[in-house]
Amino acid sequence: MNKVRMLYEGKGKKLYSTYEEGVLIAEFKDDLTAFNAEKKGNERGKGELNCKISSFLFEILEKQGIKTHYLKRLDAQNILCKKVEIIPIEVVTRNIATGSISKRLGIQEGSVFPFGVVEFYYKDDALGDPIINDEHCKILGITDKQEDLEFLKSQARKINAILKDFFDTKNLKLVDFKLEFGRDDKGEIILADEISPDSCRFWDKTTNEKLDKDRFRQDLGNIKLAYEEVLRRIVS
Ligand code: TMP
Ligand code: ASP
Repeated sequence: MNKVRMLYEGKGKKLYSTYEEGVLIAEFKDDLTAFNAEKKGNERGKGELNCKISSFLFEILEKQGIKTHYLKRLDAQNILCKKVEIIPIEVVTRNIATGSISKRLGIQEGSVFPFGVVEFYYKDDALGDPIINDEHCKILGITDKQEDLEFLKSQARKINAILKDFFDTKNLKLVDFKLEFGRDDKGEIILADEISPDSCRFWDKTTNEKLDKDRFRQDLGNIKLAYEEVLRRIVS
């Protein structure tokens, strides 16, 4: 399958059309951004690592019955996926407090939540992706159906249950993660985008060492080593 035309360039990926209707190629970029792209960087090889990690995780989810846009990995840096219309909500699930929830609600970093806390953020760079509730989703015209929002939450919880257990066996804590969903050509909501150390937080189970994009956000160094370690553990 070949790339025909670039349709979209995001912060982490480029999307290309193919000769097959409704099928796209997503290329994972080496670029790194944080804080709504105020901080920019580039890590050679990061795209390949995210492509491999995300493909592996999407394959696990597909096997567990989660419907996704993922079709197959083409090569080190490219996947084939179904074309979807992205729903402009970042669905974040948190198992352990850190990042923006600790700042916003004054919750001690590292506090373990009794259940996965699901939050919606409005995917809008100009507004800085603000946190939103169900009613905001409706007045923003994202959906007028409560069942769509309930579906996003229940999928996030199911995915959390699958991935949390999986990472636990790899000596990693799945601290939190961000999902994006889209509508396919039948209007069905399916999981899209990526699941990688760019969009998740992983801490080593024994040392709590951060093995994700926080290494870039917080200038901790060894970004690529951390992503390589995540890949090494999940495939082993
Ligand atoms: P936060 O604590 O900064 O709100 O991040 C929560 C989770 O969502 C964390 O795993 C990182 C991920 N995330 C993204 O993938 N993209 C984003 O734009 C933001 C803000 C967070
Ligand atoms: N992904 C967002 C950005 O690129 C924010 C983040 O992940 O920290 O700006």
